[in-house]
Amino acid sequence: MVRPSLFYYYSQPRPSGSFRGFFIPTPLALLTSFIIVSYIYSTSHLFTHHHHTTSRFSSSSAFVSTFSSPTPLPIPVSFSNKNDSNWSKNHTLESAAGKGSESQRSPPPQLSSNGKSENNDDVFHDRDIFLEDYKEMNKSFKIYVYPHRKDDPFANVLLPVKYEPGGNYASESYFKRVLMKSHFITKDPTKADLFFLPFSIASMRNDRRIGVGGIQDFIRDYISNISQSYPYWNRTGGADHFYVACHSIGKSAMDKADQVKFNAIQVVCSSSFFIRGYLAHKDACLPQIWPRKGDPPNLVSSKRKKLAFFAGAVNSRVREQLVESWRTDPEIFAHAGRLKTPYADELLGSKFCLHVKGFEVNTARIGDSLYYGCVPVIIADYYDLPFADVLNWKSFSVVVPSMDIPLLKKILKGISFEEYLRLQSNVLKVRKHFQWHSSPVDFDVFYMTMFELWLRRSTIKVSLGDSVGPH
Ligand SMILES: *[C@@H]1O[C@H](CO)[C@@H](O)[C@H](O)[C@H]1NC(C)=O
Ligand SMILES: *[C@@H]1O[C@H](CO)[C@@H](O)[C@H](O)[C@H]1NC(C)=O
Ligand SMILES: *[C@@H]1O[C@H](CO)[C@@H](O)[C@H](O)[C@H]1NC(C)=O
Ligand SMILES: *[C@@H]1O[C@H](CO)[C@@H](O)[C@H](O)[C@H]1NC(C)=O
Ligand SMILES: *[C@@H]1O[C@H](CO)[C@@H](O)[C@H](O)[C@H]1NC(C)=O
Ligand SMILES: *[C@@H]1O[C@H](CO)[C@@H](O)[C@H](O)[C@H]1NC(C)=O
Repeated sequence: MVRPSLFYYYSQPRPSGSFRGFFIPTPLALLTSFIIVSYIYSTSHLFTHHHHTTSRFSSSSAFVSTFSSPTPLPIPVSFSNKNDSNWSKNHTLESAAGKGSESQRSPPPQLSSNGKSENNDDVFHDRDIFLEDYKEMNKSFKIYVYPHRKDDPFANVLLPVKYEPGGNYASESYFKRVLMKSHFITKDPTKADLFFLPFSIASMRNDRRIGVGGIQDFIRDYISNISQSYPYWNRTGGADHFYVACHSIGKSAMDKADQVKFNAIQVVCSSSFFIRGYLAHKDACLPQIWPRKGDPPNLVSSKRKKLAFFAGAVNSRVREQLVESWRTDPEIFAHAGRLKTPYADELLGSKFCLHVKGFEVNTARIGDSLYYGCVPVIIADYYDLPFADVLNWKSFSVVVPSMDIPLLKKILKGISFEEYLRLQSNVLKVRKHFQWHSSPVDFDVFYMTMFELWLRRSTIKVSLGDSVGPH
């Protein structure tokens, strides 16, 4: 079905889908051109300072102050979802690059049929379209998980973990565990929209036989094994495959498996444009969320007296700047290192909670702020925010460029009380999208991640033979 809604999401699947198809027989030399082209393409987006609600590139809002007035934006050209086989045939490297620049010049298409503007206060860019697509996703999306032999010595890396996941990398374990039990799984690979590579980077890291040093080799061998044993990898060069990783080591894990890095969908917590291996136009952000049961008991009665709060290791230039600027301020609480008082009290006692880029991109603080009903302030330039394809981050957070740290107080105090209440009530509305459940609950972090994958599903089936033709 072709609807204006398609303008709402990303520009990604089709262009890169056909890229990927094209990719397979292409000599390596072109790979380099591809990287250059996509680099130019993505950086040109970075610097046009645009700011609109719905495209895939709205995630770049991470470096656009919410206080700058929104300018009308080019929205990447979108194509019909299913019937683009002709387009794909025409879609060579040159035309792909051309499409990119064309889309920058083209006037923004109408945002939506119901006339919602980008200044909407809703937590979704477009609720109706999202809900409609979500239903479709929920009904039709199918994932095939590569099986392994019962006696595979590395079954531990491929199976969901037995223990209850916790801590910073819980999202990775939770995702796999919930996916395997979900109705998205199909045992019939010909019915699959996407193929799941079930290895866990966190488990590999903890396995003495693999360890940090062995992860790259393991993944190279794993891909080699599945591409020998099944036709699906070669069919698309991995473009309809995905993996999920929350550990920051993941950023270099694919260094010996270039096809994974360049073709597959990487759903990762380290979703920074600056992290090598993360390709913003095809990969997706998995939020780093601690599993938690129920709401904090004092959420409703919490009195938020402090203006803003940060505590954590000062392990990046941005955090240094923050602490230097605000350490002695009576209203902005910027604490270097661990707190002596309970962390939760601060999250409950502050109006705004600062998420400041550290040594690694670490989003656990976003999850924390939302959970405790504190409006997140994101100071992490070039960070691909979770679910930015769907969620209107401007409606429940404040994004401050690192450059503006000295202006932080002015910015936060410039937010009126009414505006704050609106942000905070939206925080309470989006919390459910940032929660894990053992059995998934509609619109929780599992379903939202599935939706992001669905947006990126490759709709172009490259047929290399009768046995593996499109279904
Ligand atoms: C795509 O177009 C072909 C005809 O060109 C049609 O038979 C087919 O049903 C279309 N598929 C979808 C999903 O619209
Ligand atoms: C694709 O192109 C062929 C001829 O080039 C045309 O007959 C066919 O209808 C086209 N299909 C679609 C879906 O546009
Ligand atoms: C593909 O290219 C041919 C020839 O250049 C053109 O006639 C046709 O319209 C193109 N199809 C699409 C879908 O762009
Ligand atoms: C999604 O699918 C599950 C399982 O079939 C079902 O329980 C749930 O109600 C569906 N949600 C929506 C919004 O369609
Ligand atoms: C790949 O297959 C070989 C032969 O079956 C096996 O020994 C090896 O453990 C496999 N490697 C991975 C990473 O799956
Ligand atoms: C896939 O491609 C690889 C490398 O070209 C080749 O070794 C392998 O046999 C192919 N797999 C299948 C199933 O044809």
